[in-house]
Amino acid sequence: MPASTPLPRELCHVRQLTDELFQAVQPDALYQRPIPERHRLLFYLGHLEAFDWNLLGREALDLPAFHPAFDRLFAFGIDPTAGDLPDDRPSDWPDVAEVRRYNQNTRERIDRALPEIPDSRVEAAIEHRLMHAETLAYLLHQLPHQSKQPQPAPVAPAGEAPRERTVEIPAGRAVLGLSPEAGFGWDNEYQAHAVDVPAFSIARYKVTNQEYLEFVRAGGPPPFFWVQRDQAWFYRGMFADVPLPLDWPVYVTQCQAQEYARWRGRVLPTEAQFQRAAAGLPPSQNAGFRYWDPIPVTADDAAADPLGPAQMTGNGWEWTSTVFGPFPGFEPFAFYTNYSVPFFDGQHYVLKGGSPRTALRLLRPSFRNWFRPSYPYIYATFRLVES
Ligand code: AVJ
Ligand code: FE
Repeated sequence: MPASTPLPRELCHVRQLTDELFQAVQPDALYQRPIPERHRLLFYLGHLEAFDWNLLGREALDLPAFHPAFDRLFAFGIDPTAGDLPDDRPSDWPDVAEVRRYNQNTRERIDRALPEIPDSRVEAAIEHRLMHAETLAYLLHQLPHQSKQPQPAPVAPAGEAPRERTVEIPAGRAVLGLSPEAGFGWDNEYQAHAVDVPAFSIARYKVTNQEYLEFVRAGGPPPFFWVQRDQAWFYRGMFADVPLPLDWPVYVTQCQAQEYARWRGRVLPTEAQFQRAAAGLPPSQNAGFRYWDPIPVTADDAAADPLGPAQMTGNGWEWTSTVFGPFPGFEPFAFYTNYSVPFFDGQHYVLKGGSPRTALRLLRPSFRNWFRPSYPYIYATFRLVES
């Protein structure tokens, strides 16, 4: 979707995208909870529309509620700590048909009012939906393979992982954040500011399954996305388990990434180091919903800077060592005060870049993602730094 696409068309397009994701799920599977820390799938079916309706209709224009119970039920997702899991039952949730009627109703009301709604709110709704397109992919990833329709195949692994290579980044300034004239960004992307970064070296490639496998063989913790059968490791893909693709990046938690880095005598990049190393580099082809699983870490070499780091954007988010927090001058968005602030709790770390299931719109350099360091379900990779 080009940047110049009018917002109403873009909203229509992203609704289609999430509708298609839900169509890939059998109706009774909507009551399943594929990730114990998250809501049942049905919540997300209602959440996307309730969020838009609350943000664009109820609050922006003060339109009257037609189903206040659903406006509240579907308003917010959850982020519980381990051991504090939700215990609701399927029968606590409404009928799918009733949720679909509510959704239809919110869309009609929003579309009638759309010309009066400020662009920034429509953009927030579009980006919120796109983020949930990725969340849905994580959730659907955890459903049994037989309950999903296979979609486009990934690039075949080329075989051996490349030899480790590092790139020297001279001392200089990293530019973090977004300047107001640059277009829509979330509250946590402001204010734009420069940070002085001492010289460091960073791996050209994300850490591969092959490299991480050595760590597992030496007693390191196996990744959540791996499964072992008859002594052999498999990657649990979106639609099938495949023999561990050695030249794909490894999906890990931040704790596992930290442990691996320590084992190798290295560290994870800080957010500022990542930003400095990634500046001006082209994204991987593996973003924007093209594939469902990773591609080889070398798959973008033809288009990459031969001397710079490869795939800093796309083919898996990258963990940083930076705790998620506000930039200097941070102000919560008045229309969505709880987008970032509840997560400035010291318990979440910044991820940068983007995954196969991250929308192109969210690949801007200032976009910040965040999760708990032991959250295993996301498409998160890492690379090593030597300071
Ligand atoms: C920015 C991806 C961490 O999924 O919790 C969705 C995005 N916020 N609805 C999340 C979000 C509210 C958020 N992340
Ligand atoms: Fe949400």
